[in-house]
Amino acid sequence: MVPTAEEFDVVVIGGGPGGYATALYGANAGLRIAVVEKDRVGGTCLHRGCIPAKEFLETAHVYRTVAGAKEFGVQVEQPVVEFSTSQARKQKVVDGLWKGLQSLMKSRKIATFIGTGTLGANHLVTVDDGNGGTTELHGTHVVLASGSAPRTIPGFDIDGTIVMTSDEVLALEKLPGSAVVIGGGAIGLEFASMMSDLGAQVTVLEALPQILAGCDKDVAAVVARSFKSRGIDVRTGVQVRGHTPNSDGGTTVNFGDGEQVTVDAVVVSVGRRPLSDNLGLQGTAVKVNERGFVEVDERMHTGEPGVYAVGDLVAVPNIVHPALAHVGFAEGIVVIKDILGEDPIPVDYTRVPWCIYCYPEVAFAGMSEEAARAAGYDVIVKKMPYGHNGRAMILGETEGMVKIIAEKVSDKKGGRILGVHMVGPWVTEQLGQGYMAVNWEATTDEIGQFIQPHPSLSEQFGEAVLALTGRGLHA
Ligand code: NAI
Repeated sequence: MVPTAEEFDVVVIGGGPGGYATALYGANAGLRIAVVEKDRVGGTCLHRGCIPAKEFLETAHVYRTVAGAKEFGVQVEQPVVEFSTSQARKQKVVDGLWKGLQSLMKSRKIATFIGTGTLGANHLVTVDDGNGGTTELHGTHVVLASGSAPRTIPGFDIDGTIVMTSDEVLALEKLPGSAVVIGGGAIGLEFASMMSDLGAQVTVLEALPQILAGCDKDVAAVVARSFKSRGIDVRTGVQVRGHTPNSDGGTTVNFGDGEQVTVDAVVVSVGRRPLSDNLGLQGTAVKVNERGFVEVDERMHTGEPGVYAVGDLVAVPNIVHPALAHVGFAEGIVVIKDILGEDPIPVDYTRVPWCIYCYPEVAFAGMSEEAARAAGYDVIVKKMPYGHNGRAMILGETEGMVKIIAEKVSDKKGGRILGVHMVGPWVTEQLGQGYMAVNWEATTDEIGQFIQPHPSLSEQFGEAVLALTGRGLHA
């Protein structure tokens, strides 16, 4: 214990979703909490990630709706995108949420320290304000939640104008006329979808044979088909070999077997790297693996007693840790319950909800068909296309489906629901029931009892489950 340091029950380093959830939940449980944040509370998700990206995807949605209004008998001029207005609106939403979060933290009496926090021996955290000032904090417990930053690749130095990561794209005042997106994961496809809908010519270059590698193959295929029909050139199984800037401001990207594409901008979205290098950690037994992730057990304990880690920073045993804001929230709750001796249930990373907000949207929980078969399950599968759904027809958005994977009871009947995979209109808002079913380890008979409102998009989930009881209504 250091006598000069300010005392807290919990000192959290990093004010992103993992850190602020730990702080909010802990403060609600009566703990005295400090949060150290080097930039703005809210972190990547609020300022440079989920929230701003979804705001721009909503601009794309509005554009599509207006452009398609004539089909509904609403006469409008051809819409024109004014991206600077969208940028200003995005900032208003972000700032509103940021203000709200700060007020919430203040009202829970969470002490916020702006500066870079480093952890030393004996749970001592030093906050460097960047102007020569330091403050020392001591936590009975310390939570590391310093998050992640975009990964880059050799030959594509980020200059912020031609070569960008998500950070720079989200700050643009004007969209490029054409772009290469390197990486066909969640970030890459959200940006490709948004930029294409708003008028850019987009090429996606993905090294693996499939875009959205973690998704069910049928779901990824629907997205690939939709992108193709909208003129997005998706190239899978290709190596990117560097780029040559042109005198007129754009660049030529080399890929595959001598192929080239000339574009205004390149968006690098090849994953994220943990921000563990500025955490100090000297004199502690916190273990950082060779890729920079802090190793934790299933209750988020690091190697140092009383020191936890959550969010994008961590590596968990035997599974790829999902870098998702809501996983950080869940881990923060586990930490606080563990501190309080409440014997928390660890996060089951194989069944967390995934939502990707490209058009068409993707949402899933639990095993893909391929993963279930590989795990040795005898499965039965039901797919319900949105093309058969009244509400989807009314919306004019019939692309996509709900796919359910259940343990096989007979050729017509499923038992426990193993995975729910959705692609189509507003599926990110529809996943809740599927997530509950998978995590409750519910059977098709149990979930088949529940009534779905009619007409609604969620009927596709209910219909698929009912069909898997052996007797469907419309299926
Ligand atoms: P990601 O890991 O999801 O996808 C990166 C993709 O880039 C992979 O498909 C990979 O094969 C490919 N790739 C890597 N190196 C490449 C190269 N040199 N050339 C071509 N392709 C290459 O990472 P992403 O999309 O950057 O997202 C980062 C993290 O943020 C992920 O963990 C993701 O789950 C999370 N995230 C989730 C969102 C959501 O759920 N809506 C939205 C945004 C991010």
